[in-house]
Amino acid sequence: MNSLIVLFLLSLFSLSTSINGLSINFDIVHRDSPLSPFYNSSSSLSELARNARLRSLRRYNRRHLLQTDMVTPIHVDEAAGEYLMRIYVGSPPVESWAIADTGSDLIWVQCLPCNTCYPQDASIFNPLKSSTYQVVSCNSEPCSFLPKNHSTCGISSQCVYGYAYADNSTTSGDLGKDMFSFGGNGNGSLLVFGCGHNNTGTFSRKGSGLVGLGAGPLSLVSQLGPDIDHKFSYCLVPYFSNYTGKLKMGQEANISASSNGVVSTPYTLGGVRHNHYMLTLEGVSIGNNTVETSGVNKREGNAVIDSGTTFFYMETSFYNKIEALIKNSIGVQEVKNVSNEYNLCYSNNDTETIMNNFPDFVVHYKGGADVHLKPEYNIFLPQDDFICLTIFPVDHDSLAVGIDFDIGNIAQINFQVEYDLGAKQISFAPANCSNY
Ligand SMILES: *[C@@H]1O[C@H](CO)[C@@H](O)[C@H](O)[C@H]1NC(C)=O
Ligand SMILES: *[C@@H]1O[C@H](CO)[C@@H](O)[C@H](O)[C@H]1NC(C)=O
Ligand SMILES: *[C@@H]1O[C@H](CO)[C@@H](O)[C@H](O)[C@H]1NC(C)=O
Ligand SMILES: *[C@@H]1O[C@H](CO)[C@@H](O)[C@H](O)[C@H]1NC(C)=O
Ligand SMILES: *[C@@H]1O[C@H](CO)[C@@H](O)[C@H](O)[C@H]1NC(C)=O
Ligand SMILES: *[C@@H]1O[C@H](CO)[C@@H](O)[C@H](O)[C@H]1NC(C)=O
Ligand SMILES: *[C@@H]1O[C@H](CO)[C@@H](O)[C@H](O)[C@H]1NC(C)=O
Ligand SMILES: *[C@@H]1O[C@H](CO)[C@@H](O)[C@H](O)[C@H]1NC(C)=O
Ligand SMILES: *[C@@H]1O[C@H](CO)[C@@H](O)[C@H](O)[C@H]1NC(C)=O
Ligand SMILES: *[C@@H]1O[C@H](CO)[C@@H](O)[C@H](O)[C@H]1NC(C)=O
Ligand SMILES: *[C@@H]1O[C@H](CO)[C@@H](O)[C@H](O)[C@H]1NC(C)=O
Repeated sequence: MNSLIVLFLLSLFSLSTSINGLSINFDIVHRDSPLSPFYNSSSSLSELARNARLRSLRRYNRRHLLQTDMVTPIHVDEAAGEYLMRIYVGSPPVESWAIADTGSDLIWVQCLPCNTCYPQDASIFNPLKSSTYQVVSCNSEPCSFLPKNHSTCGISSQCVYGYAYADNSTTSGDLGKDMFSFGGNGNGSLLVFGCGHNNTGTFSRKGSGLVGLGAGPLSLVSQLGPDIDHKFSYCLVPYFSNYTGKLKMGQEANISASSNGVVSTPYTLGGVRHNHYMLTLEGVSIGNNTVETSGVNKREGNAVIDSGTTFFYMETSFYNKIEALIKNSIGVQEVKNVSNEYNLCYSNNDTETIMNNFPDFVVHYKGGADVHLKPEYNIFLPQDDFICLTIFPVDHDSLAVGIDFDIGNIAQINFQVEYDLGAKQISFAPANCSNY
């Protein structure tokens, strides 16, 4: 039995959430986890892996579309997401599953009455039945935080938002305010969110909405702001795991309190709306060999870190050097033509050999932050009979807001990743997220 398979033999862990003063602790599950509302027990690992690859690619392409969108009035954002969190909205609280997304800002859920709603399993939130729901007016500060041209003034000076995503998905409705609680007991915070009466397109069919964790003013993190000391952290479990990961805010997110081996690196804000967290990737070491960024790749803020992208994308010339070093150090024959979706795969029969021989893989971020990735979680994904590399090449992005590295969620599994919006830094500490 190899170590990858062991990941899928974990036992069921019960869902729980707690809110304790200014510390918030959410469960977070991968969409393909048996605990996720998206779980499809008849999907094979290769189907799941293939779908993950397609979703990741769509998101990547969407980000690129986003950069050309600057000249058009339509607001483009990224709706796709991989991790879901359980939230409770209103009084009495209505349970919702929402995509947790570090790549966008607005919190929104589907709301009654639905002009158009995509199907959702859980009941749809009805603001009229919530005693704490409030409307937000056009001339209020939160309304002014909506991106330009994406708010209008509705009946009774009600602030109306409208987002269109690059894949033609849309959400529009009223900007409102209500209690968001995280343990289902009504304890929570009054937050501004989009009450979506008109939601179309390719949104997560069973999820109720989205929670933006970006750096813009309407994101969950920004709204809670000083109450959570401007900090959140997450810890993601391996794909298909029966355990839940955690999203923590406030004191619970304090990485130095809970972990050894913490490294920190500064972030800047990037992307069209300046709400993406950008890191500076300086190089990658594989065993004794280091590939440093050079030429076009070598610049501040060359890497976006994103919970909603699955894989680790590297600019092609950089990727080619990394792939060559990986092949070299593994010393096992690769399996060709497994699928068109993956670049480098090996037989599952060789997994143990590969894991044993795999050299130390270190990503070097600015400020001496060395993040050591583990092959079994961060670098390969199983596909029934094969295991395939989860790093992919992408063209150099020559646009001004270009991104040459996209650090997706696989490269973050089993790390506590802390975002400190006060110190403007992101920290990584190795962790067992199934046990955290
Ligand atoms: C994970 O949970 C599902 C659903 O409860 C169960 O059918 C499956 O056996 C579990 N898998 C493992 C590896 O524990
Ligand atoms: C579940 O997976 C099976 C096998 O791939 C597929 O045929 C079916 O359509 C999926 N169900 C849903 C609801 O996606
Ligand atoms: C907003 O709309 C106006 C008029 O349609 C347009 O001139 C302007 O460029 C738009 N602004 C943005 C940021 O899209
Ligand atoms: C979105 O809609 C426009 C206009 O209807 C169409 O040209 C475009 O191909 C659509 N894009 C996608 C990704 O479906
Ligand atoms: C919820 O709030 C009530 C009243 O403030 C408090 O008594 C209770 O302990 C809180 N519950 C939790 C789980 O924090
Ligand atoms: C809902 O969205 C559709 C498509 O964008 C639009 O035609 C319609 O007017 C919207 N309805 C409301 C009530 O916003
Ligand atoms: C975080 O934890 C460290 C170590 O326990 C402690 O020194 C520090 O004061 C904590 N910071 C906050 C903001 O709680
Ligand atoms: C890597 O470096 C270590 C320490 O310098 C050395 O012991 C080892 O032989 C080197 N390995 C290779 C493959 O060069
Ligand atoms: C792999 O696929 C390529 C292109 O489809 C084909 O030319 C080649 O013969 C295939 N190789 C094997 C070993 O099947
Ligand atoms: C793995 O080993 C089994 C048993 O020896 C063999 O039947 C199978 O073809 C091998 N798989 C691959 C992908 O080489
Ligand atoms: C992580 O924690 C889980 C749950 O306690 C445990 O089953 C698993 O073996 C741990 N994994 C590692 C690599 O220590």
